[in-house]
Amino acid sequence: MQKIAWLGMLCCLVILGCQDQPTNDRLTNNTTDENLMTTPVKDIHSFSDPEKAIMQHLVWKAQVNFDSSRIYARASIKILRDPTAKNIVLDTKDLTIEKVTIDTDQGEIDTKYAQGDADPILGSPLRIALQDDTEWVHVYYHTSSSAEALQWLSPQQTSGKTSPFLFTQSQAILARSWIPLQDSPGIRFTYEAEVEVPAHLLALMSASNPQEKNAQGVYKFKMNQPIPAYLMALAVGDLRFESLGPRSGVYSEPKILEKAKNEFTELEPMIEAAEALYGPYRWERYDLLVLPPSFPFGGMENPRLTFATPTILAGDRSLTSLVAHELAHSWSGNLVTNATWEDFWLNEGFTVYFEQRIMEALYGLDYSEMLASLALQDLKAEIKELREQGNKADTHLQLNLQDRNPDDGMTAIAYDKGYLFLRWMEERVGRELWDEFLKTYFENNAFRSITTAQFLAYLQKNLIEKHHINIYSEDINAWIYGPGLPEDRPKPVSDRFKIVEEKLAQWNQGNPINTNKWSTHEWLHFIKNLPVAVDSTKLSQLDSRFNFTNSGNAEIQAAWYLQCIQRQYTPAYQALEKFLITVGRRKFLVPLYKALAESETGLILAQNIYQKARPNYHFVARSSIDVILEVEKDH
Ligand code: BES
Ligand code: ZN
Repeated sequence: MQKIAWLGMLCCLVILGCQDQPTNDRLTNNTTDENLMTTPVKDIHSFSDPEKAIMQHLVWKAQVNFDSSRIYARASIKILRDPTAKNIVLDTKDLTIEKVTIDTDQGEIDTKYAQGDADPILGSPLRIALQDDTEWVHVYYHTSSSAEALQWLSPQQTSGKTSPFLFTQSQAILARSWIPLQDSPGIRFTYEAEVEVPAHLLALMSASNPQEKNAQGVYKFKMNQPIPAYLMALAVGDLRFESLGPRSGVYSEPKILEKAKNEFTELEPMIEAAEALYGPYRWERYDLLVLPPSFPFGGMENPRLTFATPTILAGDRSLTSLVAHELAHSWSGNLVTNATWEDFWLNEGFTVYFEQRIMEALYGLDYSEMLASLALQDLKAEIKELREQGNKADTHLQLNLQDRNPDDGMTAIAYDKGYLFLRWMEERVGRELWDEFLKTYFENNAFRSITTAQFLAYLQKNLIEKHHINIYSEDINAWIYGPGLPEDRPKPVSDRFKIVEEKLAQWNQGNPINTNKWSTHEWLHFIKNLPVAVDSTKLSQLDSRFNFTNSGNAEIQAAWYLQCIQRQYTPAYQALEKFLITVGRRKFLVPLYKALAESETGLILAQNIYQKARPNYHFVARSSIDVILEVEKDH
């Protein structure tokens, strides 16, 4: 492991400088046995050169302009550097740089800078000249009106229909499209911000947040815990707050606030269950922000303020495992972070495992095993698809993303194979020891970023060797560096799903079935396993009895529409079209458009719908669907 003298020299200063904050341990050299280290590793998805200079703190002053769909800002960056470094390199994408200055004894002065050629995935490096004693650089810039992280919504695209809305989605490498920074998950910094927005709107960030609007429309934020760039987040809109517990609450547009509040009443017990498992919540508050339906993900674990899709507001609290997932990221991901996007499973696999444990603690094993069984079905389908496409190496946990977009690695492999590996470990060592290990893992590596290899070394030393566990490294390596699923993988068993399968068989033979008290997950299992040969008459009977087409539960609708497309059951198509036009959640859109694109008439229908729907989608959803429907990327 590489140790850098200048970092060592500066570490005392750093520690002295932030005694009331978590130390940026990465910058200290006192690597102990329990600790992973430290110097950021090479990240192929960032231009930054952390061996020369790292950003430590960001002061962001910004104006959000809805008329031009741009943010005008100054990013002031405090750097920690090798004294011999002549420059610092930041990541940018489509940013217009107005000027760059540095602080000197004579005050703020212009400094030389150069923006390199734009790479379609990575954007352009911004190389800023430093003087010998430069500690602060200031970048004055504005964003492009098509900045990839930003989605600007017209009032029509919100539920209130009266105010515009803006939200960001920075993960994986889109933070650079709205702030010039070192956009690598191996580099952490603290931040503060002052954001000016139209006076009738509220601004929120992944930081300490206001709970109500002020007359000036100027909001201040502080994030005292060091975070990687992909966790930078901003949302601006007609937003209100409702408290849910002593340290938690929910923000949303006024129209859906009551519904949101009701959906998430169990947030506080969830935080308590998480803490009971793997140690204290380290981020002070945990709030949720429910976004308009075009949000491209289910949830995004922005620290202190999870961003969530409104499609989890099912009215019966049946989709709250998503909140457990994003909450779990407060440990796995936000506290201990994947060092590069090739180690993405460290974020998501651990989070799915933790999510499952929270759900088991709150709702019992028969509930969490339903979730695990559904995930396993998705995983098997994903493995099959990746194999068929000749992308077998993408079924490894440790990825190779050289010259590729990190998005390519965001498959069920990281999530569900990652989860199964950790569950396999639990089965091998026993829950008690495994939980103790995980708890100390989060504690010892808090506010650090680690690679897969570092994790494996840590596991070897602190679990396997320490407790003389009988596991072959070959078996572990098969999970991490090998394809598909090992033979002895864990086998989720859901008795509730066995009953669903029996009922499904009865129904298929024309018998009436009793589905009283079925949960969303039982219905999902039922729908996803409908026999291929079911014809339109039978689908129509099902639909009139159970009303899937207009269920109001987005998971059920998406699963049902997929079956309808595959069987060309056209009575559902009008509702399908409405769904595709309003919902921008990529996980739902991709399978539906793919299924449509499989037939010639389906493809034409899909292209027609997409023409209407595309303006409602965020960049990340658009880029996936452009590929499926072979649409020219024009904007
Ligand atoms: N961090 C992810 C979302 C993400 C991953 C955004 C990669 C950009 C790049 C988030 O925690 C997540 O996994 N969301 C899932 C929900 C979850 C319950 C599996 C989603 O959005 O569907
Ligand atoms: Zn996640």
